Amino acid sequence: RSANSLSEARKVRHSRPGKGQAVRCRPLSALQQNVSAAAAAAPAMEASTVDYKHSLLASREDYDKMYKRSIEDPAAFWGDIAKGYHWEQQWEDDHHTHNFDVTAGRISTEFFKGGTTNIAYNCLDRHVKEGRGDVDCLLWEANDPGTERRMTYSEVLAEVCRLANWLKAQGIKKGDAVAIYMPMLCELPISMLACARIGAIHSVIFAGFSPESIAARILDCKAKVVLAASAVKRGKKAIDLKSMVDKAVGFASRDGFEVEKCLVCHNTSAGGGKEATPMKDGRDVWWDAEIPSHSSECAVEWMHSEDPLFLLYTSGSTGKPKGVLHSTGGYMVMAGTTSRYVFDLQPGDVYWCTADCGWITGHTYLTYGPMLCGATNVVFEGTPTYPTPARSWQVVDKFKVKQYYTAPTLIRSLLSSGNDHVKAHDRSSLKILGTVGEPINPEAWKWYSEVVGDGRCPIVDTWWQTETGAHMITPLPGVFPAKPGSATLPFFGVAPSMVNEHGKAIEGPGEGYLCIKQAWPSTIRTIYGDHDRYETTYFAGFKGLYFSGDGCRRDEDGYYWITGRVDDVINVSGHRIGTAEVESALTLHPKCTEAAVVGYEHPIKGQGIYAYVSLIEGEELEDALKKELTLTVRSNIGAFAAPDILHWAPGLPKTRSGKIMRRVLRKIASKEESQLGDTSTLADPGVVNQLLSNRP
Ligand code: WTA
Repeated sequence: RSANSLSEARKVRHSRPGKGQAVRCRPLSALQQNVSAAAAAAPAMEASTVDYKHSLLASREDYDKMYKRSIEDPAAFWGDIAKGYHWEQQWEDDHHTHNFDVTAGRISTEFFKGGTTNIAYNCLDRHVKEGRGDVDCLLWEANDPGTERRMTYSEVLAEVCRLANWLKAQGIKKGDAVAIYMPMLCELPISMLACARIGAIHSVIFAGFSPESIAARILDCKAKVVLAASAVKRGKKAIDLKSMVDKAVGFASRDGFEVEKCLVCHNTSAGGGKEATPMKDGRDVWWDAEIPSHSSECAVEWMHSEDPLFLLYTSGSTGKPKGVLHSTGGYMVMAGTTSRYVFDLQPGDVYWCTADCGWITGHTYLTYGPMLCGATNVVFEGTPTYPTPARSWQVVDKFKVKQYYTAPTLIRSLLSSGNDHVKAHDRSSLKILGTVGEPINPEAWKWYSEVVGDGRCPIVDTWWQTETGAHMITPLPGVFPAKPGSATLPFFGVAPSMVNEHGKAIEGPGEGYLCIKQAWPSTIRTIYGDHDRYETTYFAGFKGLYFSGDGCRRDEDGYYWITGRVDDVINVSGHRIGTAEVESALTLHPKCTEAAVVGYEHPIKGQGIYAYVSLIEGEELEDALKKELTLTVRSNIGAFAAPDILHWAPGLPKTRSGKIMRRVLRKIASKEESQLGDTSTLADPGVVNQLLSNRP
């Protein structure tokens, strides 16, 4: 395929709704169809309490009191909390303002106005200055058992400063974007912190994205410098990462943007010498050749509270991924505070978050939050089931992990391997178990609690999003009882509103769309370069409210049960994927004329990707073509977005105005064709039978 046609295709992929066009979301009556196992398990009232004493909160009353103040007087509440961090310059008393109402002017959020700080300083220097420099900051475990690396807070600080000095030497200054494409090496959080130290905006790209996706991200934020790694080994498979970057840089160049420098970390754990990695003269340099010669001291760039900290691209209902922008002060305070309260994290606690820094969880709960708390972070390069399902528990025992945070998909996969791999390990160090990324079904929740946690570890099922920056609805361990499958109650400063399709708040128990009424410190500030799209996506749907894109239920106790996305976003193994992106990728294949992608319930992944494809005249969906179509998605987005099921659709169910009726496609995908509902508005009702007779 020529460079030109790819460029064209990308343009199509980047099309988006115009200003003022509100988000598409499924009608409430359809919520039930999308309800996860967690919520489907009837309004389960079963509460679970384990003996755990929170170090800051003695009781539910403590929580209630703090929560009330956080909502009624956010400026004072967060002001008091923010005093626990270093500010070079104090914020103003009336530091907090926000507007969530599109009819009342520009949507905006400001926290700690007038204050200056630096998150990297708070993550590192502060601990070193306070005598915690010798505490382990990073405990790195390689993909293959037997290789590890320990770095103290002082050591991480020194390396962050060296890299920051290198970045400055490349001309990177406050406000410039830097792209990072690395696997889970110590150098990944170090790279993020080095950017933050000098005020550069980091844009981490998950090292599973394809060159096309990397290029789109580099282009969107004009990153002149890319921090990369040579390769990675995941399980048995070695993956060459540098060649992906080379291709991406080539695509960017074709579109008129030149990446000037690429710093490459040689990942020895992936095997292979440096000679296996081609380097371009003048552009590519090795980390170990460049960084050691730079000074281990680097002055901090004091950032205004609302200065941008990072960009992270995430999928939405339509169009290209959005560059979610978080700012400095509010994000810092909320990341630190949620880590402190939700994981009860204290200096020196050994904490393991299995997320990759390529996603928001790795930003807030691997890099920033735990380091703000002075915790010791496990950084794991591999896959938690390699070489055996017991790997997770070996690592837990080896490092004496106290708080463990993962996604339901991993819990379900470990559950399916039985209990022996768990029980053969001690795990007595574990105190708190967390989950994130998708609704957790009560069965997995109970297994996590009873088998992994031996019935003595509270489970924190944390609901939040890339856009929220930090936990929003979450249990607080030992403070109030949990219920299997419920994210429970809002965190301090978070004011949920459950609304019907007209945006009217539903009081008491019921079911609706999950919105947030007022700004919290780590509110998404904008979509990079597209404030209109920001306002349209999150605030145009329901007046005066931030709309999350999720549905929820609230029970008699005020507990929230997240029922899943109500827009065209799906959560696959905790990875957020826009169905529109997969559709655009499929139609890049010359034989695919149209595609419609929906999620379906998958026993391990939570949701799987089900793709209906229409083909050019005379083509049938044979195995070879299936492979090609899958490859097209892998190479345009990444392997994690490859469809699980491809279904040949000579015709798609469309309304007379040409809109695809996804409800019908979802029903067919979940084998619930008896509940197709009203199909009389279809332009050609015959396509339904055709699809049913065509099942793959
Ligand atoms: C889903 C990940 C149920 C939800 C932090 C949300 C959850 C999307 C939970 C955001 C949870 C996240 N229970 N669903 N505890 N946590 N989600 O941006 O659909 O990758 O909208 O952020 O994940 O995904 P994102």
